[in-house]
Amino acid sequence: MRTPLVIGNWKMHGTVVEARALTTAIRDGLKRPRGVQVVVCPPFTALAAVSEVLGGSPIQLGAQTCHHEPAGAHTGEVSVPMLAELTCRWTLVGHSERRKEIGESDEVINLKVRAVLSHGLTPVLCVGETGDERRQGLTFNTVEGQLRAGLAGLAGEQIAKTVLAYEPVWAIGTGANATPAQAAEVQGYLRGLLSELASKEIAQTVRILYGGSVKAENADALLAEPEVDGALVGGASLNAQAFIGIVRKAARVGTAGKE
Ligand code: 13P
Repeated sequence: MRTPLVIGNWKMHGTVVEARALTTAIRDGLKRPRGVQVVVCPPFTALAAVSEVLGGSPIQLGAQTCHHEPAGAHTGEVSVPMLAELTCRWTLVGHSERRKEIGESDEVINLKVRAVLSHGLTPVLCVGETGDERRQGLTFNTVEGQLRAGLAGLAGEQIAKTVLAYEPVWAIGTGANATPAQAAEVQGYLRGLLSELASKEIAQTVRILYGGSVKAENADALLAEPEVDGALVGGASLNAQAFIGIVRKAARVGTAGKE
């Protein structure tokens, strides 16, 4: 069985003071999360402070992106070894906001996935179609292209160490989440591709998260889908009680098992 995973992506929210307060509230509200893995991804500027507050807590630290080179003349960028030094064990890669706003290409995203794996961190590769693409019937083409390019050249055992996040762009920050059936349909398709790219056995072990307007109110139904192995949470992760509520729901699903 795949352990449910809940990741909070704080995006560009939170001063160090605010990040400390949010982390403290999440840490204290989730002393011993059982049957679920929890990760928070604060902005770069708050990573050190959040790491300190998390201390020996089972909640793990992640980044929102990284550069693919270990060091160099890349103004404004942060490398994977720098993240590892701050105790990050995860980083998001290829979030749709970076694809759109920064122009991150599939090729660069593939380099990032490789860099993250080569330093022993876990990449969370994000894929998802826009509303237009869905309306034009291009959902599967889009996510397939993003997945194949993002994982290009990776060996099966490297694919086994990645996490995928299906985040339909039209569902991000809109309050209009994908229905559980929509999420399950695309995520089942992605798992089929993983079988081809790695193996059926590996595909069964890789966690595929859903992201896009996840909140405590819709988490139960989404997480109940066998294909949905957890949630990548944006807005609701900025509220400790809301985030804790989602984690508790994921833990219940994880403990109870699915199917
Ligand atoms: P929201 O939960 O705010 O829709 O954001 C989702 C997301 O982009 C997480 O990476």
